[in-house]
Amino acid sequence: MRISFRLIGSLVLAISVISVLFAIFQVNTEKRSKRNELSRRAEIIAESLRESVELLPPKGSEKRLRQIVEKFGSPELLAGVVIYNKDGKPILVTSDLGKRLGSKLPPVQNGVLQGKTVGRFFNAGQTEWHAYYVPLHTGEQISGALAVFNDATYIEAQTAKTWRDTFTRVLVQVLVIAGITLLVIRWSMVRPITRMAQWMRDLRAGKTVPQPGLIGEDVLRPLTQEVTHMATSLRRARASAQEEARLREAAESLWTAERLRVFLQGTLEGRKFCVVSNREPYQQFYRGSSIETIVPASGLVTAMEPILVASDGTWIAHGAGDADRATVDERDRLRVPPGDPRYTLRRVWLNRQEEDGYYYGFANEGLWPLCHIAHTRPVFRAEDFRYYKEVNSKFADAVIEEVGDVQNPIILVQDYHFALLPRLIKEKRPDARVAIFWHIPWPNPEAFGICPWQHELLDGLLGADLIGFHIESHCRNFLETVDRALESRIAWERMNVTRGSHLTMVRPFPISVEPQDAPDETHERESVFLERAELLRELNIEADFVGIGVDRLDYTKGIPERFHGVERFLERHPNYCGRFTFVQIAAPTRTRINRYQDIIAEVESEAERINRRFQTRRWKPIILLARHHSHKEIARYYRAADVCMVTSLHDGMNLVAKEFVASRVDGGGAVILSRFAGAAQELLDALIVNPYDTEQLAEAIRMALELTPEERRGRMRTMRRVVKEGNIYRWAADLIGAVSGIRLDMPEIVKSPADARTQASGQAR
Ligand code: G6P
Repeated sequence: MRISFRLIGSLVLAISVISVLFAIFQVNTEKRSKRNELSRRAEIIAESLRESVELLPPKGSEKRLRQIVEKFGSPELLAGVVIYNKDGKPILVTSDLGKRLGSKLPPVQNGVLQGKTVGRFFNAGQTEWHAYYVPLHTGEQISGALAVFNDATYIEAQTAKTWRDTFTRVLVQVLVIAGITLLVIRWSMVRPITRMAQWMRDLRAGKTVPQPGLIGEDVLRPLTQEVTHMATSLRRARASAQEEARLREAAESLWTAERLRVFLQGTLEGRKFCVVSNREPYQQFYRGSSIETIVPASGLVTAMEPILVASDGTWIAHGAGDADRATVDERDRLRVPPGDPRYTLRRVWLNRQEEDGYYYGFANEGLWPLCHIAHTRPVFRAEDFRYYKEVNSKFADAVIEEVGDVQNPIILVQDYHFALLPRLIKEKRPDARVAIFWHIPWPNPEAFGICPWQHELLDGLLGADLIGFHIESHCRNFLETVDRALESRIAWERMNVTRGSHLTMVRPFPISVEPQDAPDETHERESVFLERAELLRELNIEADFVGIGVDRLDYTKGIPERFHGVERFLERHPNYCGRFTFVQIAAPTRTRINRYQDIIAEVESEAERINRRFQTRRWKPIILLARHHSHKEIARYYRAADVCMVTSLHDGMNLVAKEFVASRVDGGGAVILSRFAGAAQELLDALIVNPYDTEQLAEAIRMALELTPEERRGRMRTMRRVVKEGNIYRWAADLIGAVSGIRLDMPEIVKSPADARTQASGQAR
């Protein structure tokens, strides 16, 4: 309350001082002008009286003189008139002037009988008077003087009134302002702060309560943001402490964010840790005059962020957002995530030709279809490969710069955009431990062999100390490709390649997602029910069952095949018409490439065709949401769906399947999963399908919807255990444990991922 009093006190003081200063100025100005006005009026009257008096003959005009004087001396014009003789004696006084003056008449003023006019204010008794004296002439001679007297008290009365008005105004202003200030303080400060304090108290007490919506309060925003971060950290720390305690209690050895952090601290031992990828984790775009931050739709981004956060490392990536340059410092860096900075993002700039040649051309029209057996013919242009090499060198320079003088850095290169990077880095920094993780499939040697630059690509990759794939068959395909194409020694049983004197390990590391747990499954089930009702209302449809698909709009994802499965399902089981809706979230991607424009058109027209065939007024079989969705938006659909469909024609892993499983904390939902996705090797309780087999897809949808609740929950429980145990933290620990355990002096002595894990659990405990 003291701050309110201080605030109100200061306002009252400021208003009073300002009002009084203004009042003083106003009163003085008014007084001056009233006095001037009175003097002028007296002067006019005196002058006109003088003219009349001087016209009278000097002798025998006393009566006429008195008449004139009495006429002018009427009370509404002035208080009275006095005529003095040339000796300064009053010879004529208007009737009641003497009485009103209450004392004897003031003598004629000095200089008047010498020809001067004089005006002056004086006090007589309680009254202030004004007298104006003019000399009277007879011919050239001064024959006396004339004075007009005015009662000037009204000027003081008006001044007093002005002061009274000022006082009343100040009082009213003070009351109004104090009242408004109190209300504003209450609404904008006291109430939100009290609510926030209550929220923090609840958090401290371990209750799960939603954060009060204070973000709109400008003054409190910095505080609110900090408090929110602190609360998030507190929640995380508490959750991880609880999880750790629970795991210790259950003698389980699960990987958690905290355990990974401790592991990385012990493993990295202060060594510099860098991740390189084409796609950046945060892209910034101008939206009118503000800048919007977007997390791109990429499994890679989902997977890498927890590692960067845990290690406070540097992520080097292509700055592709149109506002990306506006947000970096002079060394092209910024701290991310925005609002909760935990690691550094270093942006590398590419011009249009570089982007076209390296990214759209060689990486996405060449390598992408080369590695995914999805029947899209790869396009190989020499010009594109030239840009691919140039951009790889550009990123190598950025890595060298970021690593600086720090010895033995660890560099984790991501994906098919950077096949040449491991060797380029190693040539300049042989002390660096370099790993590359290939997020997409590696095809068989015959398929890969059609690439005109397969030797350069393989040689570049073998610059790495470690090459990771999602699954073992991709490792084997890679080793076979190397065996066919390059001069090298392969130790098949240990999965190593030696080229020249350099040894490269090749290992599977099945990538994953963050695990999620619900304290109360029943409560979650109720909220899933409500959430689904809300979503259907937003989509403006009525349905009993909801299917979900979440993909980049890519031809490898098997989206048209999925729609055909839905169509066939409705043909075969018409009782589901009006009851089953499939929602496809599809983020447009690589849209400058023709094949991607074709797939967008195909997906849209197939959805439309199938909808036209079956839809009713309140129901549609397919809802296509072809735009970027945030993780938060997608999570709502995951939670509301009965079945998630992942029907990739070929996929390295596919994190959507794992994300769906992780998000089903209620234990519900079923997964239909393509056997050509890496995830099918782990999620054995999904309904595994061949996406080219429409009949099988239709049957899988029926099965998913008709599983008994026990069976559905049983399958989900097993899949959740798989995702929980093989989570993203374990993936990171395996990968980083393996690369950091490499002995550069004796490369054949390497720690296996299992060794690294053993070591990590020792450190984490
Ligand atoms: C796949 C690739 C990633 C890539 C992502 C999104 O998951 O393995 O490297 O970032 O697709 O594709 P985009 O071309 O938009 O980065």
